[in-house]
Amino acid sequence: MLLEGRKISKRFGGVQALSEVDFHVEAGSITALIGPNGAGKTTLFNIVAGAIKPSSGQTVFEGREITGLPADEICRRGIARTFQIVRPFATMTCLENVLVAAVNRHPRRPRAALEPGARDLLAQVGLADLAGQEARHLNVVQKKLLELARALATEPRLLLLDEVLGGLNTQEILQAVEQIRRLRDRAGITILWIEHVMGAIMQAADRVIVLDQGRVLTAAPPREVVSDPRVIRAYLGE
Ligand SMILES: Nc1ncnc2c1ncn2[C@@H]1O[C@H](COP(=O)(O)OP(=O)(O)O)[C@@H](O)[C@H]1O
Ligand SMILES: [Mg+2]
Repeated sequence: MLLEGRKISKRFGGVQALSEVDFHVEAGSITALIGPNGAGKTTLFNIVAGAIKPSSGQTVFEGREITGLPADEICRRGIARTFQIVRPFATMTCLENVLVAAVNRHPRRPRAALEPGARDLLAQVGLADLAGQEARHLNVVQKKLLELARALATEPRLLLLDEVLGGLNTQEILQAVEQIRRLRDRAGITILWIEHVMGAIMQAADRVIVLDQGRVLTAAPPREVVSDPRVIRAYLGE
């Protein structure tokens, strides 16, 4: 078991965003996290990645508790994430954006030593030609790819993807799903993936965790989840 959440609760003022959520992610899996808007998906990511602290409960990564550790420490331990709203450093080039993440991972290595790896990552996501371009000039798809390259530059064993397919067309979705599969198959990176595009989840996910109103509704293989009446009622029905 790579990642485990035990009875995670989170309250924002009067809003109970998560209520005693138990979940796990198996090493080498592509695990999807789905559920209606406001279900608590991003909050769960924020807790795992150390952006916010849970009100109670524990997160355990590779057998060690990481609950409440600062985000940079969790990143160094091997968890990277992308954001639902992409936010690259706008006036830095693509290469510089990736280098910032690589330096975070290897603070003592000189920039020149990290540059080939950073260029290689840009090539992997299809942005090699835009290495010298400022991030603010990229389109939405390119910004998402840059976001992915930045996450990968921290050399994660677990990658948290937050709605990376939003705004992509059908062809781009197919390519992105292929890319996500490759990350798991070739680089051995475990994926926890918040997504609304059910077709993509059906194609790529081994297991789906369904959140609804801050609770786990079910966790099962995709085919079981899409035919589960509770999931249809809470989420898919619309
Ligand atoms: N920083 C915050 N302050 C107050 N309420 C928040 C905050 N973040 C999330 N919430 C609330 O917590 C609930 C879960 O939100 P979120 O985790 O973003 O859901 P999802 O990603 O599944 O759409 C929502 O009711 C949301 O309004
Ligand atoms: Mg969200």
